[in-house]
Amino acid sequence: MLDKKINHPLHAKTDIPVRFSEETLERVRKIIERYPAGKQKSALLPLLHMAQEEFLGYLSVDVMDYIASLLEIQPIEVYEVATFYSQYYLDPVGKNVIEICRTGPCAICGGEAIQSYLEQKLAIKTGETTPDGLFTLKAVECLGACGSAPVMQVNTEFYEFLTEEKIDHILDDLRRKSSEEKPEASKWKEKFF
Ligand code: FES
Repeated sequence: MLDKKINHPLHAKTDIPVRFSEETLERVRKIIERYPAGKQKSALLPLLHMAQEEFLGYLSVDVMDYIASLLEIQPIEVYEVATFYSQYYLDPVGKNVIEICRTGPCAICGGEAIQSYLEQKLAIKTGETTPDGLFTLKAVECLGACGSAPVMQVNTEFYEFLTEEKIDHILDDLRRKSSEEKPEASKWKEKFF
């Protein structure tokens, strides 16, 4: 597994070894130690977040296989979790992943119109990434904030009671922040680990 490298046509960076840094491996060990012997699979969710963080923002098959080897579980056990949760990306995504809720309560409160407005503003269809790599637009199921519909999540932040004016403001703000941040700025690390 250690000779695997990440290569994807959408990334300028290639030949990235599929192996955590020593610093991350130390954190991996500490997370696994939280669980009883034989129950190391319980560490799967945080390890997938860490892998996504470290390996260009998405989980390739090689990366998922690497996580399986670290946890001494079957690769299929990783695939079935990574494909279930919308927070894990199986393909490259933009710096800001916009997840617009498409479930009933949000749809009734204007979510579909907001989704169309986002597509228009970003000049992409849902499921696509802007050519500058700044935004990926995804439609997801209920984000658990139906009382504040329509709702979307951008990376780890929630935005509620959306209107077109709010979308304009949020996108401007994200563009400004993205131009100020370092390219490798973390989406998840400070929040969860
Ligand atoms: S339906 Fe959109 S948050 Fe629940």
